[in-house]
Amino acid sequence: MSCRKIAVYPGSFDPLTNGHQDIINRGAVVFDELVVAVAINQEKRHLFSINERIEMIREIFAGNSRVTVETFDGLLIHYAQRRGAHAIVRGLRAVSDFEYEFQMALMNRKLAPTVETFFMMSSESYMYVSSRIVKEMASLGGRVTDLVHPLVEQQLKEKYAEYQNT
Ligand code: PNS
Repeated sequence: MSCRKIAVYPGSFDPLTNGHQDIINRGAVVFDELVVAVAINQEKRHLFSINERIEMIREIFAGNSRVTVETFDGLLIHYAQRRGAHAIVRGLRAVSDFEYEFQMALMNRKLAPTVETFFMMSSESYMYVSSRIVKEMASLGGRVTDLVHPLVEQQLKEKYAEYQNT
């Protein structure tokens, strides 16, 4: 049996922020493989398509061999089990994240007690950064240079320019 420690870092990543990037970089130091798992959620309206999101993340982490990027459908815990993951990683920013995250972690533990959820505290510089805030800023012409990777910033510019022209 392989003793490689695999963790899944799930989310919508619409788009990836510096906060996510920081968690991925730090998580990839602790685990042998960190799988960034982009959820295919038909119910949520997303700015970026699933392919656009995974392509951006793949490009940004192309130099880190411990990071892989995949999509998943259905229950996260089933995907984590199929993937042979020992852990699920989630970032925690403020206390307001806690209730939902705690509920999700407990539900996942009930379904699969051997897959542990690890919470990583966000760096203080990214406490206030979320994909929602980034989109709102970018859509209204605000600078998001310090909040996202330059590649994401460029894609946001293109996306909102596209919308303005339609
Ligand atoms: O970035 P987000 O939107 O906070 O990520 C939420 C996500 C995708 C991790 C969560 O909604 C999820 O796990 N969805 C998959 C469906 C599932 O397993 N739901 C039950 C969670 S207890």
